[in-house]
Amino acid sequence: MIVHPAQLGHQLSLNENPYGPLPSVRAALTDALVAANRYPEFLPRRLPGLIAERLGYPPDRVVVGAGATGVIMHILQEFVTPGAAVVMAAPTFDGYPLLTDTVGGRVVEVPLTRDGHQDLAAMSATIDPGTAVVVLCSPHNPTGTCLRHDALAGFLERTDPSVTVVFDEAYIDFVPPGDRADTAALVERHPNLVVTRTFSKAYGLAALRVGYAFGAAPVIARIRRWQLPFGMTALAEAGVRACYAAEAELALRTETITRECGILTAALRELGYRVPTSAANFVYLSGCAPAELDRLRVGFARDGIQVKHCATGIRITVGDTAATTAVVTAAR
Ligand SMILES: Cc1ncc(COP(=O)(O)O)c(C=O)c1O
Repeated sequence: MIVHPAQLGHQLSLNENPYGPLPSVRAALTDALVAANRYPEFLPRRLPGLIAERLGYPPDRVVVGAGATGVIMHILQEFVTPGAAVVMAAPTFDGYPLLTDTVGGRVVEVPLTRDGHQDLAAMSATIDPGTAVVVLCSPHNPTGTCLRHDALAGFLERTDPSVTVVFDEAYIDFVPPGDRADTAALVERHPNLVVTRTFSKAYGLAALRVGYAFGAAPVIARIRRWQLPFGMTALAEAGVRACYAAEAELALRTETITRECGILTAALRELGYRVPTSAANFVYLSGCAPAELDRLRVGFARDGIQVKHCATGIRITVGDTAATTAVVTAAR
């Protein structure tokens, strides 16, 4: 049974794009369905080629997967031997502790600073010879805070090159260009740096499962070894191609979400909540007493608003104007 979005109330727990595919993207997907009886490429070449071309890289610098989650899984499979440490902030995207566990790695968590930033000094201090991978996210999930270029560059300089650094940019398209780290320059200098991105967020293709990583060719070749034959759908390629052709329209949607994020942040701060400035499509209510978190949990559930409850706060995806009104009303 297909559940219509209206039956779900406000689905604000997964940082999805509130808008369905653009008409041009929908048309491309419908066209691609005509050939649904045919297998996609045995191992994807055209899709990573398309993304690489967009980034200005040769195709061997990009690897695709079933969402960024699929790529992250392959990175951990390649670099984490049983018992090796994967250092990450806490809280972070749930996929990191979960997939580390799947590959037999050891999760090493470093608490966020009080203002919702990843504590790079503490993370560096945690790295030891048993560390295989360090994960950094910018913007960070669940707080939406960004890592500045200089902070990332400094972190990479002091990190042993035997440690793979995953820099997760799932929400990069929401970040103003001036606030983005220059990852293109950093991957040239640091062959242990892998940057991951996704089409699930700003591009609104979460159902199609398309993510990718870029970095130095040798590190990407190692990750590519784990790809599943016929593992990427033909719809993924059609969807990405159509999105690239509609960048201007997509940018308007991203701007709308960013504006709504500012409105939601201001309204929640006005109610007295501590909300870090988010550069993504979600906001994080932090610093609440347990009784207040419980009150919010009950209020959101009563009003049919699905949000993500974390140990230290509540993450709320930015939806449309009606969703913002519903969230603020429930919080009040
Ligand atoms: C920081 C971060 N990385 C990666 C992902 C995975 O996205 P996907 O597997 O849909 O590409 C998410 C999804 O919420 C995320 O928040």
